[in-house]
Amino acid sequence: MSDDSSPSDPPDLSHVWKGLASNGYALIPDWDLGVSDDSREQFHKRYFGDDVLRHDEGDFPPDRKRARDVIHYIWSDSGLELREYETITITDRADIKGKREHKRVEILEDPQAKHLVETLLDLVPPGRRQPEGTLGVNFFRTYTDVVTKPHHDHEEYIFLYLMHRDGGGAESYLYRDYEPFKGGPPDEPALDYRQLSPGELLIFEDSLFTHGATPLEPLPDGTAMRDMIVFTVDYPETYLKPKQAR
Ligand SMILES: [Fe+2]
Repeated sequence: MSDDSSPSDPPDLSHVWKGLASNGYALIPDWDLGVSDDSREQFHKRYFGDDVLRHDEGDFPPDRKRARDVIHYIWSDSGLELREYETITITDRADIKGKREHKRVEILEDPQAKHLVETLLDLVPPGRRQPEGTLGVNFFRTYTDVVTKPHHDHEEYIFLYLMHRDGGGAESYLYRDYEPFKGGPPDEPALDYRQLSPGELLIFEDSLFTHGATPLEPLPDGTAMRDMIVFTVDYPETYLKPKQAR
């Protein structure tokens, strides 16, 4: 993904680590990661076509298309080792009981994607890295609602990387104490309603915030479309050490 830095010249990510430590989130442009507009646009074309994305019956929002990968990473003295994880099955997530299979796209064979994954895992503050873990990679194309409701993804870190947007709205927010079921409006947002532009990354610690986004607002011709990659730095329980069924 990078074209003006190399593995021997990694970008300085200390401002991201500081933001995560002091606020729990960071908002950065991808050029901080050494990604150019051309490079991102190539990446977007490769992964957001109908040959990759698929709508799955029962998914929410009901017009969403998606594809998914899961990468197994291991930090060692010699660096970061990456391989495709054996499964991408999602279990009991987003209020949907049971196991779900989405379309898989294996991205590690693509050097541009592999380099992006390496850079994103570097965004996890060094003191917070697990010796090994999984990274969920979710390609989402939405046309109306972006998410169903404010929520947690129940993973350690979430990276939202916006690739493309036609239309308005789709404002992302983070609340520290969002308790809509206890009556009254939620507290002031920690990240106020913010429309992400292509190339922006919103990175946050999932347990600290309830997150969500407002619906897309159509263009004068009535259309709207938003392409987002959601990366999750997973807890070990998600894939590597699944909890025993009770
Ligand atoms: Fe989410």
